[in-house]
Amino acid sequence: MLCLAWEILVTRNIILLRRSLTKDWQILGLWPLLKKVWEMISTLQDLKWIEMQIGWARSMSPGKFTHDKTRPGCFLKMIKNQPLTRAGCGKDVRHFEFEFVSSVIEYVAGGVLEVLPSQDSAAVDAFIQRCSLDPDALITVHPREKDNHFLHTCTIAKVPIKLKTFVELTMDVASASPRRYFFEVISYYATAPHEKERLQYFASPEGRDDLYQYNQKERRTVLEVLEDFPSVKMPFEWLVQLVPPLKTRAFSISSSPSAHPNQVHLTVDVVSWTTPFKRKRSGLCSMWLAKLHPEQSIYVPAWFRKGTLPLPPPSLPLILIGPGTGCAPFRGFVEERAIQSESNATAPVIFFFGCRNEENDFLYRDFWLSHSQEGGVLSEAKGGGFFVAFSRDQPQKVYVQHKMRENSRAIWKLLSKGAAVYVAGSSTKMPSDVLSAFEDIVSTEGGLSKESAVRWLRALEKAGSYHVEAWS
Ligand SMILES: Cc1cc2nc3c(=O)[nH]c(=O)nc-3n(C[C@H](O)[C@H](O)[C@H](O)COP(=O)(O)OP(=O)(O)OC[C@H]3O[C@@H](n4cnc5c(N)ncnc54)[C@H](O)[C@@H]3O)c2cc1C
Ligand SMILES: NC(=O)c1ccc[n+]([C@@H]2O[C@H](COP(=O)([O-])OP(=O)(O)OC[C@H]3O[C@@H](n4cnc5c(N)ncnc54)[C@H](OP(=O)(O)O)[C@@H]3O)[C@@H](O)[C@H]2O)c1
Repeated sequence: MLCLAWEILVTRNIILLRRSLTKDWQILGLWPLLKKVWEMISTLQDLKWIEMQIGWARSMSPGKFTHDKTRPGCFLKMIKNQPLTRAGCGKDVRHFEFEFVSSVIEYVAGGVLEVLPSQDSAAVDAFIQRCSLDPDALITVHPREKDNHFLHTCTIAKVPIKLKTFVELTMDVASASPRRYFFEVISYYATAPHEKERLQYFASPEGRDDLYQYNQKERRTVLEVLEDFPSVKMPFEWLVQLVPPLKTRAFSISSSPSAHPNQVHLTVDVVSWTTPFKRKRSGLCSMWLAKLHPEQSIYVPAWFRKGTLPLPPPSLPLILIGPGTGCAPFRGFVEERAIQSESNATAPVIFFFGCRNEENDFLYRDFWLSHSQEGGVLSEAKGGGFFVAFSRDQPQKVYVQHKMRENSRAIWKLLSKGAAVYVAGSSTKMPSDVLSAFEDIVSTEGGLSKESAVRWLRALEKAGSYHVEAWS
């Protein structure tokens, strides 16, 4: 494993250094260097320990983690946390830069990074206290019978782990809402009659709507539910099975490794909203990342994986559509192509971006504009283009698909040259609206009937030239 190679390498270096330094370190003034290397080694040792604990805990959990979600693929250290939106505009999108710490990872622009978020330590303590558990107890967890196959195929040994660590790494106690079955089970463990009755009602078909309002709509957490029903005393075995698993979160990689060696960047919408009962809620992972300071030595466990957007070769013309945080993978593509274009001719790129207001959430404005200038990969001179739809800067909505229709000739020209289409962003109606716009464009500019245009685009998709990565 790459990670191990790093460790051996550093360990060898320190041995050599120590030999030469035993005599001369004071004279040579190498103490600061030695200290730094020692710190690096202890960090790597700490990370190895954390990596093993994550592996042990998550491989034991009944939560449905795939095998490669047990031990993290790498650890990242945040080096930049920069708002991309105007403060107070009602939207908070951040640009995060991370450095690899445990090992250098090879990734490609357009890929996806999965992050394991940290839970609020006070909330974990409160959960442990509420459930009268011993945080320091060493435990092993045995998955239910039917999951034993997974356990046997797992190469990570079952090792006793501190209960608090297990909860922290596998059980989402203070962010996700529990399922209906959780209410059914805890109703058996409620000793106060009025609590039992309410829980039984929530678990019944008649109580479905009220449960939805109380639980899902309010994004009530396990900890909050248990605090609302103080007579419930649940055995830990049940909690382990019923508390929602702590999930990793996916983010499109917004950097090119060629432009930023040893780094990976993300473009993250910091999720927050107010519930019908005016409770402030926020996304576990995005809020945790947003609160991290680059000066803190906090290491983010992460996994790299291929997304649905393959890195296009330099000779392939591109039509990119990425409103909001959908622009993330295309920042990586444009960086990549800018580097390629320094040594070779590259095919044109057209990018359609959309945001609410020019002044508030025009993400990476300077970046796109500089690449649209003379000679840039998005420049008209190179056959490319950059078009922005500001949806809320005028009375009627203007979306990326409006800008596409306005530029239908340029789009058809690139499609006729064999361009690939990439669509990324929020999954509401955007991807289907964008597809409709393409159908209109192909029909009008290509002189085809609507049905033929639909078939034409389906063929494009089948040929692997129409890619969509959408999320909610
Ligand atoms: C392949 C892929 C790539 C992605 N790329 C990016 C990216 O580049 N940038 C990015 O910002 N996101 C991206 N996402 C989306 C991101 O993974 C999710 O938004 C993720 O849930 C954020 O994690 P979190 O812990 O901050 O929020 P969570 O704790 O997971 O909370 C998010 C959940 O909160 C609820 N919620 C959110 N807003 C509201 C609301 N207004 N009202 C009611 N409920 C609400 C929804 O149930 C939502 O699923 C991507 C997703 C995928 C699958
Ligand atoms: N649950 C919600 O209510 C809600 C709402 C928004 C965002 N979010 C969260 O915010 C995250 C990221 O948001 P984001 O920054 O990527 O995107 P965003 O800010 O929600 O949207 C980016 C731009 O796309 C526009 N848009 C909306 N519907 C569209 C459509 N059908 N076709 C084309 N463009 C459309 C938006 O316009 P308008 O907004 O002006 O319509 C905006 O200008 C989402 O993943 C989601 O978690 C949640």
